Amino acid sequence: MWNTLKEFKVQSSKFKSEGSSNFPRSDVKPHKLSEIIHTEKDRFTTGFSEMDSVLGGGIVPGSVILLAGDPGIGKSTLLLQMALDISLKGKSVLYISGEESEQQIKLRAVRLTKNLKNDSLLLVSLTNTDQIVQLIQEIKPALVVIDSIQTMESENLTGLSGSIGQVRYAASQFIKAAKTLNVPTVLVGHVTKEGMVAGPMVLSHMVDTVLFLEGEKNTGTRILRSLKNRFGPVDEVGIFAMLEKGMEEIKNPEQIFLTKSNNAPGSVLVANLEGTRAFLVEVQALLVYSKLPMPRRVTAGVDYKRVELLLAVLQKHARLPVEQMDVFVNVAGGMKINDPACDLGICLSIFSSIKNINLSRVVGIAEVGLLGELRTPPFLEKRIKEAKKLGFTKIITPKDYHSIEEVVSSLTKEV
Ligand code: TYD
Ligand code: MG
Repeated sequence: MWNTLKEFKVQSSKFKSEGSSNFPRSDVKPHKLSEIIHTEKDRFTTGFSEMDSVLGGGIVPGSVILLAGDPGIGKSTLLLQMALDISLKGKSVLYISGEESEQQIKLRAVRLTKNLKNDSLLLVSLTNTDQIVQLIQEIKPALVVIDSIQTMESENLTGLSGSIGQVRYAASQFIKAAKTLNVPTVLVGHVTKEGMVAGPMVLSHMVDTVLFLEGEKNTGTRILRSLKNRFGPVDEVGIFAMLEKGMEEIKNPEQIFLTKSNNAPGSVLVANLEGTRAFLVEVQALLVYSKLPMPRRVTAGVDYKRVELLLAVLQKHARLPVEQMDVFVNVAGGMKINDPACDLGICLSIFSSIKNINLSRVVGIAEVGLLGELRTPPFLEKRIKEAKKLGFTKIITPKDYHSIEEVVSSLTKEV
């Protein structure tokens, strides 16, 4: 009734103590560090040493891994290869696809392996979250793959599959199953660049490990990074090539990033660092006199703004007539470089193209400042070591030169 008051009794909390303190009491007791028994989690291999090292040494039992990446980049291919390998070693793998039928997956498997007599790999095409959880509980496989989290839906929720609610619910159910049954689980998440925050990346905080598979669609190179890892480092990268028979690991990145025919002016090597790994990559530049009032600057694999800045440095400090020229800079092998230590190599490739000097056996390792000064990048020794290992002896670093001007005049004198 309106304008009336009714009395309610508040029940006293069962935690409330009778004594002087008002804090709740509970039976939970912390343990001394020395009392806690721990077992070194026994990891198992994915069959790809590149992927194992990104994970920090293989798959941790009970862990949940989110494998994110653009649609069509190769997530399903990589995971099916992993599932085939693990199952061939006798461990049971449950591969759940919400995107492809069992026949489609079989067809893909035929492309990927010769050994199709495999009773340990179980495939199911299913999107019902709750049914899948039941299935995992019944089968208790050694590994579960959910491809993809966006296709999962539950009748307990109203949203459509792919909605944040459904994705979160599905993930929380799979994580619960993984933790209670100690079954490691890989969740696939399609992520577009715009969706980095809105899409399945909202799961980042829920899962143990977030891996990101990236690469240009039109080149075969794929890079696997860990963006978060409760059980390992986050700066490891794994390099793969997408071939007709699936993903192949690239243990020597130079085999794809160095073209064999780089024997012409315009090509210079840089020592790029990805995570903790240094490897040589070829940068190519082409400069021609422009007919346009605003000469063109076209880049692939390097930051456009960085190239503009380096062009300004070259114009001012090396007196190269870049302002009248069209500039094209490209990284061979479809690699993206975003490491200031590659500045010098980019500058040298531009210089090499303008002056028609062949520098294709030269490795440039330095960050270039606005005053044309060369700066020592992190892990210089590691980069030098990598270059030497591959037989390159002409390595230009801030150890021997202080400025881009010095480098350019010394190279001009040499020829
Ligand atoms: P896929 O693994 O389906 O991508 P995702 O799961 O990330 O969406 O990969 C799809 C692309 O990969 C498709 O364009 C075909 C190509 N592909 C190969 O080049 N080689 C192969 O062996 C396979 C199975 C696919
Ligand atoms: Mg897929």
